[in-house]
Amino acid sequence: MISIAPSMLSADFLHLEKDVEMVNRHADLFHLDVMDGTFVPNISFGFPVINAIATKAARPLDVHLMIVHPEKYIERFARETGAAMISFHYEAAKEQSVDILRQIRDLGVKAGIVINPDCPVEVLFPLLKECDFVLIMSVFAGFGGQAFIESTYERIRALKAEIDRQGLRVPIEVDGGVSPANARALIEAGAEILVAGSSIFKAPDPAAAIAAMR
Ligand code: DX5
Ligand code: ZN
Repeated sequence: MISIAPSMLSADFLHLEKDVEMVNRHADLFHLDVMDGTFVPNISFGFPVINAIATKAARPLDVHLMIVHPEKYIERFARETGAAMISFHYEAAKEQSVDILRQIRDLGVKAGIVINPDCPVEVLFPLLKECDFVLIMSVFAGFGGQAFIESTYERIRALKAEIDRQGLRVPIEVDGGVSPANARALIEAGAEILVAGSSIFKAPDPAAAIAAMR
């Protein structure tokens, strides 16, 4: 089962309800990018915006934390926003990663870990059994609208092979520069959850862009 997760970072914040309803009708998940200006050189949105989206969301919320000290905020994201999936960056957590994955799972939320394009996929291998999904960045976290990094295919293939070798069922999510042009190749490499911001919300017809990806 392939899921399409529009990144609300590229939504129209003056008419957010319209974009929430579009996702409700045509997509599978709400991808919500939380940036703190420290882990990444950008600041996005937090609880007020996500809680507002949650009041109208008919699809699960997938919260992607690009913040230092994710452990401080996970409980609030779980309880307050009702997130179904929460991911945090390995680069922000390092040896605390297992504890944070367990913290997320203990709250009844699907736990995911994320790596940037310059982080070897091998760091994830010992963590896979603690994960409900993994998120591979195909751009450097921080901004929407960046160009897809081609080496992502090989990274997804290597990760998928290791997930299979360990006999696990851990879906791979991919985020950054995803569009109808590369969706098929990403799925063939082993991705199951496609995050897309600009290719959906900047398209003349967002629903058609989602349909093209499917
Ligand atoms: C980038 C975010 C992405 C971003 C994707 O740090 O994690 O979710 O919004 O946007 P596009 O699809 O435009 O690359
Ligand atoms: Zn994201």
